[in-house]
Amino acid sequence: MDVQNIKKVIIPVAGLGTRFLPLSLAISKEFLPLVDKPVIQYIVEEAKNSGIEEIVFVISPKQKMILNYFKGSPELEKILIKRKKDKILKELKDFDSTFEGIKFSFAVQKDPLGDGHALLQAYKMGGLGHSESVAVSFGDDIIDSSVPALAQLINIFQTCDAPVIALKQLPREKIPAYGSVVVEKIANNLYKIKKIIEKPQPDQIKSDFVIVGKYVLTPEVFDYLKKSKPSIKGEIILGEVFEEMLNDGKMVYGYEVKGEWLECGDKLKWLKSFMYMSLKDPVFGKDLKDYIKTFK
Ligand code: UTP
Repeated sequence: MDVQNIKKVIIPVAGLGTRFLPLSLAISKEFLPLVDKPVIQYIVEEAKNSGIEEIVFVISPKQKMILNYFKGSPELEKILIKRKKDKILKELKDFDSTFEGIKFSFAVQKDPLGDGHALLQAYKMGGLGHSESVAVSFGDDIIDSSVPALAQLINIFQTCDAPVIALKQLPREKIPAYGSVVVEKIANNLYKIKKIIEKPQPDQIKSDFVIVGKYVLTPEVFDYLKKSKPSIKGEIILGEVFEEMLNDGKMVYGYEVKGEWLECGDKLKWLKSFMYMSLKDPVFGKDLKDYIKTFK
């Protein structure tokens, strides 16, 4: 077995973000802040710290913000130099340096036809080698951990050479809103996925695990995506494609990633993630905790 080093991640950010209306009419949810950085920056930093060298964003035709955000700020830099704003200039340079060594490319998803359809647009754009496996990170799931979540998945992928899905445990009553899995334990934190049930009924829930939006996908997953038919809702859903693979007897692994799962896909989850990051922030955390104590 060749050990493949994963150097590329696809980050789909072309969804509608309807759970954030009316805010999502003005900005896409990936640009909501956690303390002083947009969610997407945490996801990019996690990828970089996992050894990723190329990021392929899948964007909607009107998603211009992301193009601007990652292209550096030479004009602002010039103004700051002229005005001798050294401290802010350093902050800006530190920010720009977080993207050094990363190549960004962009695929456009004209219509929001599902997360699987978004991944296909990255594949069709070219640049993904035929025998190349890639990481995928959705634009609204952050894992706060010492070993970055994608690095955890990539390490496991290198030992099992089959698709790997990030998993987290949740209380049973929360699971019906997620992609749930039936699993067989193989080793510490590592599971063989036997079945995937999107948004299960309570009696269909067979484990405490749900799918987090982070994966390592093999070329075979893209072969299945290419031939998949849209669901009744007209979407191509990655979870359904995995289900087809499982029905054909293909191996798919699940790995329980270590770290705090900061979800940013709906208002309450984002508010909780905002609060978590703010309260542990080295600059603002203490003042915020003191402030909360004054609430009646
Ligand atoms: P979500 O399931 O969170 O859907 O997508 P959404 O459309 O973004 O949000 P809601 O449900 O309307 O509130 C998971 C990930 O897949 C991307 C999203 O941007 C997010 O990163 N996605 C989803 C696409 O890129 N294209 C799609 O057609 C659907």
